This record gives sequence, structure tokens and C-alpha cells, in this order.
Amino acid sequence: MDKPTEERLRVAVKIARAAGDIQRDRYETPLEIQTKSVDIDLVTEVDRACEGLAVAKIEEMFPEDSILAEEGGGTNRKNSTWRWIIDPLDGTTNYAHGYPRFCISIGIEREKKRTLAVIYDPLMDELYHAIRGGGSFRNNLKISVSRESLMERSLLATGFAYDQKRSRRENVEYFAAFLKTARAMRRDGSAALDLCYVASGRLDGFWELKLSPWDVAAGYLLVEEAGGRISNHSGGAAFDSGREVVASNGIIHDNMLKVISTVHV
Ligand code: IPD
Ligand code: CA
Ligand code: CA
Repeated sequence: MDKPTEERLRVAVKIARAAGDIQRDRYETPLEIQTKSVDIDLVTEVDRACEGLAVAKIEEMFPEDSILAEEGGGTNRKNSTWRWIIDPLDGTTNYAHGYPRFCISIGIEREKKRTLAVIYDPLMDELYHAIRGGGSFRNNLKISVSRESLMERSLLATGFAYDQKRSRRENVEYFAAFLKTARAMRRDGSAALDLCYVASGRLDGFWELKLSPWDVAAGYLLVEEAGGRISNHSGGAAFDSGREVVASNGIIHDNMLKVISTVHV
């Protein structure tokens, strides 16, 4: 790892741990909660505090880097080599309900290529990181995807977008189809942690629709560097936008794509 990459990894880990401290301290305390796109899309004062500290630290240490942050606090700098993509609190609905599944997610691109990933789950004290070409790790121990080859023995996860009340029901149809083929399904409310779990073999596969760049920027690299595969729903290159994603151990990937292709929505 060269010096600029190493420095950014060190700062990203520092930010993740500091945000994790806030998330742990404020967990299950009374929170100021507002809504965003629709009445079930929430933002809390903790989302904003974590984003604020992340953006301030990056601007202090790397003033030329671009930042895309979910709550809008980042600055896009034309011609910058580095871009940070941040979800300050992934799993806000869980957090607001005191359901213990949430994290901060930081993905870093260099020349538009996914280069570093840091995701921290403060309650489990699990820090995931990945380095392009250098592997994926949980608490500094190397992780890899599962070796499961059969859909009927696979544990899969997904999530549902906030427009679920108004939109077509495509993910309900996918869910029903996977329910018939996989061993079991989970919907646990943090796409970034779902991707960490694919990377570390706790899940065999994950799919979702209508995610955003900050949900997937770090998780994609973690899955890839752990030996897994990510793609869009047709098997092509995964969209950086997160618009549709399939992530898996690689072995069951084509079978997951097949299930998706059989659903007519
Ligand atoms: C959400 C979570 C959830 C996923 C949603 C995301 P947020 O992010 O990752 O698991 O199903 O699509 O928007 O709002 O908690 O940062
Ligand atoms: Ca998110
Ligand atoms: Ca969020």
C-alpha cells in the first residue's frame, strides 16, 4: 500500500471508530427524528452528528478530496483524485427503534476505482476493512466468502426500499421466489452490514433494488476482495449507483441471477 492510501485508511478507521462511539453512546436514548423522502425514510441527529464529524476530519486532513455523504454535507471537487462515499449511519430505522443492527460505511475511490472500504458495527465491535488488491478483514483478521454451492443450503438477505408503499412490488416477488429456493432469508435493515456478512461468509448471498452509492461503496469492495462476486440483476457490472445489486460467494451467483430472471414484474 502506498503512503496516500495508507494515510486515508488510517483516517477512515479513526472516523469509523469515533462515529461508532457516538452511535453506541446515543443508542436507546431519546432522539430527534425527522423524515426525508417519505414518512418511513428517517434521519436522526445521530446520522447528522456522524456525518459532521466525518466530513470535518476529511476536510482537515485531505482538503482536495471529494466527499459524497448521504445527508448532503460533502463537497464534490472537480478533478480530485480521491472520493469518499459515506453513509454515516446505515440502518437508521433500526437505530430509531433500538434494534441493534447499524454501522457507519466509508468507501474511498482513487481515480474512480474502488480502493478502500471501512465499515464499523459499534455494538458488535466489528471493524471491517478492505484494500484493493490486498484482501478483506474483520478486526484485522482476513475474511473470505462462504464455499456453499447449493441454493437450498444458502442463507440469503435483502432489503426493501423506502418507496415500498407506492412502487411496484418487484422485490416482494423476488423474495417469494428466493423463499422457495434458498434455505432461509433475512431482512435485517443495514445493506452495508449485509455486504460485510456476504464478505465474511455469514451470508451466502444478498440482493436489493434501489440502493444508493453510500450503501454499497464500501460493501462492494469488501465482497470482491473476499473472493465474492457482485453484479447487477442481469449479471453485468454492478452499478455504482446501487440501483440493483446481487452479491454472493460467486458459486451460487448464476443461480441467484436465474431466480431473478424467472420473476416477471
Ligand atoms: C437503508 C438500509 C436498508 C436498505 C435500505 C437503505 P439507511 O439505509 O441499508 O437495509 O434496505 O434500502 O436505504 O437509510 O438506513 O441508511
Ligand atoms: Ca444506507
Ligand atoms: Ca444512512
